[in-house]
Amino acid sequence: MKIVTVVGARPQFIKAAVVSRAIVANGQDVSEVIVHTGQHYDRNMSQVFFDQLEIPEPRYHLEVGSGSHGEMTGTMLAKVENVLMEEQPDGVLVYGDTNSTLAGALAASKLDIPVAHVEAGLRSFNRQMPEEINRVLTDHVADLLFCPTDAAVSNLNREGITRNVRRVGDVMYDAFLYYRALAEEKSEMPGALELTQGRYKLATIHRQENTDDPEKLRNIFSALGELAEAASPVVMPVHPRTRKLLRQHQRDVSLSPHLRMIPPLDYLDMIALENSAQAILTDSGGVQKEAYFAGVPCITLRAETEWVETVAAGWNCLGGSDTCQIVAAFEQTVAGRPETRPRFYGDGEAGKRIVREMLTRLCR
Ligand code: UD1
Ligand code: UDP
Repeated sequence: MKIVTVVGARPQFIKAAVVSRAIVANGQDVSEVIVHTGQHYDRNMSQVFFDQLEIPEPRYHLEVGSGSHGEMTGTMLAKVENVLMEEQPDGVLVYGDTNSTLAGALAASKLDIPVAHVEAGLRSFNRQMPEEINRVLTDHVADLLFCPTDAAVSNLNREGITRNVRRVGDVMYDAFLYYRALAEEKSEMPGALELTQGRYKLATIHRQENTDDPEKLRNIFSALGELAEAASPVVMPVHPRTRKLLRQHQRDVSLSPHLRMIPPLDYLDMIALENSAQAILTDSGGVQKEAYFAGVPCITLRAETEWVETVAAGWNCLGGSDTCQIVAAFEQTVAGRPETRPRFYGDGEAGKRIVREMLTRLCR
């Protein structure tokens, strides 16, 4: 069986690393051709993950780069279509909810090639989010839907999608378990940043709704400023979108001297920093879950989340983008640390299940 995998953005490299390893472990039964759309292209947003996570080199680099949503998605669609006509795979594998996901899924479905979607069924129910549109459309053209959680299965069922839906667990949990051991061995975080275990907060921000709204950006940085102290700073690996928008709005946004902004990290350093943080403040989907995997309280800098289980379990609190609400959410979450962390995200074998299922369903 031949699979074409379409990836393009940072979290997709991490997810694909898990499934690619399971594909290689399957030996001759499955061959994988990786297509990198080029949506993310800085070394620390892309190549570093291929090197560190030992992801096979992409056979195709489409070099689409940045642009408006329509321009990016349209260019990717045309370029992925050319690759698929050349490769004639048995299936196309896409991950998550980025523009690369939608372009891969649309290109395949228009050529009548089965689409397998990893992280199917996630919903924020906020159609203002570009990712929500990407997810809904991808799920509705997908032929195999790999859900990480029960909530994701229910969301699909509510939309009338019941066939070929599989709850396989979360590939990000597989990744976290596998690479945590390597991070313990190889990463020098948090010491390399002169941070002490439990005496710093970790923050990431990159959602369009936060970065592109000057008021929200200002409010979030005010909250981080209130929480950052000399004895417990806030450390933030800065996403390139945020770097760009902070530069544009530098007069409006005040930055605390105890907020330490650093370039994006590689995955091992990132999970090492997550593991030792007092709390994590983030608008990232992946980072919210990693906080849960690590047993670190999380404050989500959004009004809603797709990872509703973490909120119900008391490990994640929605802080939105209001300064007071974020500070209150921080205090509530850190003080009310629950005693248990139910296993919502599977057993670390999602990657293997996905490959097994594709072999059963897609082999000609
Ligand atoms: C994208 C995804 C988002 C995902 C995130 C992961 C969509 C709609 N959004 O958001 O779901 O959570 O990736 O990180 O697909 N840039 C660089 N260098 C890079 C990449 C981006 O400078 O290597 C800058 C460019 O100015 C670009 C901006 O970041 O315009 C935004 O990049 P883009 O890929 O459009 O969206 P993300 O915010 O990264
Ligand atoms: N990540 C990383 N380095 C960083 C920030 C994030 O390796 O500096 C990892 C993080 O651990 C998680 C993934 O990137 O596995 C999340 O990606 P991102 O926040 O860009 O996107 P989202 O998950 O919100 O789509």
